[in-house]
Amino acid sequence: MPGFEVFGKEEQQAINDLFEANGGILFAHGFDAMRKGVYRVREFEAAFAKRMGTGYAQAVSSGSTALKVGLKALGVHKGDEVITQSFTFVATVEAILEVGATPVIVDIDETLNMCPVSLEKTITEKTRAVIPVHMMGSPAAMDEIMAVAKKYNLSVLEDTAQGCGGTYKGKTLGTIGHAGAFSLDAGKTIQTGEGGMVITSREDIYTRARAYHDHGHEYSKSMGRGEEGALLTGFNYRMTELQGAIGLVQLSKLDMILDNQRKNKAKMMQGLGQLPFGFRKELDPAGELGDTIVFFLDSKEQAGEFVSKMKAAGLGTKNLPDAIRWHFARHWGHMFMEHGFYADTWQQEWQKSADLLERAVALPVMVNMTDERIEEVTRKILEVAEKVK
Ligand SMILES: Cc1ncc(COP(=O)(O)O)c(C=O)c1O
Repeated sequence: MPGFEVFGKEEQQAINDLFEANGGILFAHGFDAMRKGVYRVREFEAAFAKRMGTGYAQAVSSGSTALKVGLKALGVHKGDEVITQSFTFVATVEAILEVGATPVIVDIDETLNMCPVSLEKTITEKTRAVIPVHMMGSPAAMDEIMAVAKKYNLSVLEDTAQGCGGTYKGKTLGTIGHAGAFSLDAGKTIQTGEGGMVITSREDIYTRARAYHDHGHEYSKSMGRGEEGALLTGFNYRMTELQGAIGLVQLSKLDMILDNQRKNKAKMMQGLGQLPFGFRKELDPAGELGDTIVFFLDSKEQAGEFVSKMKAAGLGTKNLPDAIRWHFARHWGHMFMEHGFYADTWQQEWQKSADLLERAVALPVMVNMTDERIEEVTRKILEVAEKVK
């Protein structure tokens, strides 16, 4: 997830250009007489929607708020249940709590994404929406998830924070469900420091997302912001023009980023493919972002030994296992105790997920890897594997 790797002169120039063009209006709305027709957030939204191949994009302040705005736009209310997966960043579950709904967390399978069988088993008459997460650049089982959602009349919000630009059977991630939520934080495929995007092909969903992210504003064409009415009760999750200007530059680099990652991953796999371990199940290898390689050791202890030997060789991992506590529900006792769900059971829940995640090692694949670096990393990992087996 390396927008930060290809970040510098062009983004800086875009900020300078913004000041040249409109004198430094950083608010995305109003100031019409002063801003000389310059609206970078609006341009970024239009370009993002076009690149993803959908009708509408609403820029917001983060990936976390994109999830919240998406849930609100899909009509999720207090008392509804929203199903998501045990392996995700904690924000997915926080967003469900933020809209007053109850999170229901289901197991993952060998894809490390939502298990569609667990999803169907968990549906109740209160279930309103599902949030599958395309973790670490790999598409979730969207055919099966959409079929279950259709059967039970549920809304689907794809958490595409870690899946920007990926595809599943030719469809861009984030466009398969009713809406998609993206993160543009500093660690993501493209980044604006902080930022997010909600996309949808449905005008009604977009209209609610736009209103909710901006205090309910109805975005009247005939009235100014001060006079127009409110469509609903909202809040402030707006993006600034600085992020819009940077986002446009980063978006123009997305295809290069994906291309490099995919090539680098393929080169690493030429060597790592010989490892005697199981690899993460990929449902659509061509649609992967190519930013992660995940394999499974035989036990938690063996994975721990593997990672400490990797560390000694100067190599790091990506989320598994280094940041597992932020990405696996078994570690979220603080939230379960405070909000009273899974309060007595969380330490025993999601055994299937634990069995997979605790044995997993995830390697980052970067955009700017030279062939020498790829060769070096691959060789060192094979050496570690020799010692551990
Ligand atoms: C799967 C997932 N969802 C949501 C988020 C939240 O995004 P942000 O950091 O932009 O709030 C993240 C960020 O790491 C994420 O990985």
